[in-house]
Amino acid sequence: ILEVDVAKTVTKIQPTMFGLFFEDINFAADGGLYAEMIKNRSFEFEKPLMGWDQPNTKRSSLNMNSGAATPVKVVENETNPNFCRVLINDDKGYALINEGFRGMGVKKDAKYNLSLKAANHNGAIKKIIVQLIDKDKKVIGETTIIPTSKEWETYSAEFKATQTEAKAKLKITFEGTGTIDLDMISLFPEDTWKNRKNGLRKDLVQLLYDMKPGFLRFPGGCIVEGRTLSDRYQWKKSVGDVEDRKTMMNRWNVEFSHKQTPDYFQSFGLGFYEYFQLSEDIGATPLPILSCGMACQYNTGELAPIEELDPYIQDALDLIEFANGSEETRWGILRSDMGHPKPFNLKYIGVGNEQWGPDYIERFKIFEKAIKAKYPDIIIVSGSGPSPDGEHFDFAMAELKKLNAELIDEHYYQSPKWFRENASRYDNYDRKGPKIFAGEYAAQSVSGANPNNRNNWECAFSEAAFMTGLERNAEVVNMTSYAPLMAHEDAWQWTPDMIWFNNLESYGSANYYVQKLFSTNKGTDLLNITKDAKPLTGQNDLYASAVKDVNTKEVIVKLVNTAAASQEVTVDLKGGKFATKGTLITLSSPKLEDENTFGEPKKISPKESSYNLKGVKASLNLPAYSVTVLKLKSK
Ligand code: AHR
Repeated sequence: ILEVDVAKTVTKIQPTMFGLFFEDINFAADGGLYAEMIKNRSFEFEKPLMGWDQPNTKRSSLNMNSGAATPVKVVENETNPNFCRVLINDDKGYALINEGFRGMGVKKDAKYNLSLKAANHNGAIKKIIVQLIDKDKKVIGETTIIPTSKEWETYSAEFKATQTEAKAKLKITFEGTGTIDLDMISLFPEDTWKNRKNGLRKDLVQLLYDMKPGFLRFPGGCIVEGRTLSDRYQWKKSVGDVEDRKTMMNRWNVEFSHKQTPDYFQSFGLGFYEYFQLSEDIGATPLPILSCGMACQYNTGELAPIEELDPYIQDALDLIEFANGSEETRWGILRSDMGHPKPFNLKYIGVGNEQWGPDYIERFKIFEKAIKAKYPDIIIVSGSGPSPDGEHFDFAMAELKKLNAELIDEHYYQSPKWFRENASRYDNYDRKGPKIFAGEYAAQSVSGANPNNRNNWECAFSEAAFMTGLERNAEVVNMTSYAPLMAHEDAWQWTPDMIWFNNLESYGSANYYVQKLFSTNKGTDLLNITKDAKPLTGQNDLYASAVKDVNTKEVIVKLVNTAAASQEVTVDLKGGKFATKGTLITLSSPKLEDENTFGEPKKISPKESSYNLKGVKASLNLPAYSVTVLKLKSK
């Protein structure tokens, strides 16, 4: 018999308890959430024509061919220096083709918004013909632009697709002979999240929204740090006009990537303004993380000398002003000009991602002093290094405790067994110590980023077992998030990932449904649930936590059975009075290796049924390998 003490609140559960960690890894932003379909739209990749193909051109014999595109650089333009100069010798065969992000996902009858900048040198180019083509080169959507001006001008057009195609391309041809310059060639579906022009992919945001996340941490991850300091994420370069956001190589443009991604760059079309807006849209508290003057310690580990930290600190202060400042302030004005006069109500800021050692502590202290001096109410998140066990971690925890740090970000990428065995991780944690942000975690079916490291059911229910431990310790654990969040099936660098997508579809993994179950049933008050006066941390392969929700007047019990056989349990809800009809939600699958796929996206997903309660003792049959949520309405 498990006992729940319904009458006594152990502690309040923070609204931020279960949130999201977003990083532009695995094509999560460019090629994913950010719905731009053109890769390298402004010719700013390291190789300016990457992503663009010109099948009928041999550069060595330009005059023999129908046309050619050449990148041109304008040095004075620091943020968007390159454009593409196209010379058309005849108007018969030349085409410039963009391959998209592993193709473009196009839907029959959906509308698409095209825009481009052009300067038509001597007016000789009469028409620009823009077509979507399918994998057999058949035209499945078309529009025409008349480039009327010799000077740079932005043109736009809207057209419909006639066919659904996962790997479409954009083909541009020309009528007339002569020279035309092109830049910012962009294509978005009209149907975006909240119908925002040039906005975010609707299906992906919907998956996030459905989780009712408590917070959104952005923009990473290692991407915050950069391999070198000069390519760290600098939020100021990600705001303002998209055209002026300087493209740079993504830190996850990595050689070890299973799916090679030499074409992984950041356009910053999804920048800090959009992250704040997304947080607001999905009801999540924004949690930006900034560079602390340390480049990724897995790469160069480059350090900003202490006497050169000022710009990094200024970035943090200015970001708070950008989010919360009035329209009288420099950065508040920019936010307002971008479309959000009201503050974003920023409450948290992270200093450094996954940094460790004395260098980190030294820098953290300086940031903390400066931020608190100007913004005493902003809560600062500090890091503790990569692994939850080991020297780095112990050092960081001890030092941060001395500093009375507010929230410490811990990361654990471990085996499913580790997760099951660590459900009691915070049971003896100092109640007066810094609060915990379990900022990145995921059970790894095998170690390393590779196709065998799966989002399988064993990983997911082991995380659920661990999460009962996070929830039971809500007094000290204030924020938690699975990582990474998203991955493109054809362009990933890390496995496993919570949400998988291709250019047309997306689905939540079993891990997604575990996260969603906890997040949408987090309650407001923690209750004690025990067996023989002890918390359930794996005895008989059982794990449990319980909460009540003062708003919905519900008691919610979460039970995880990690055994290969079903188990009968009785939950004694002491001190409660309940309606006889409750709700039972079960997430289970018979095999450890089961997983959701594009073919079977909801194979492992919650099944809801009604539950008839007799008295105050709930008898439950917990299926093998299952996560069960029992919800009872108080009378
Ligand atoms: O989530 C993937 C990476 O794991 C993050 O970028 C980093 O913080 C951690 O090492």
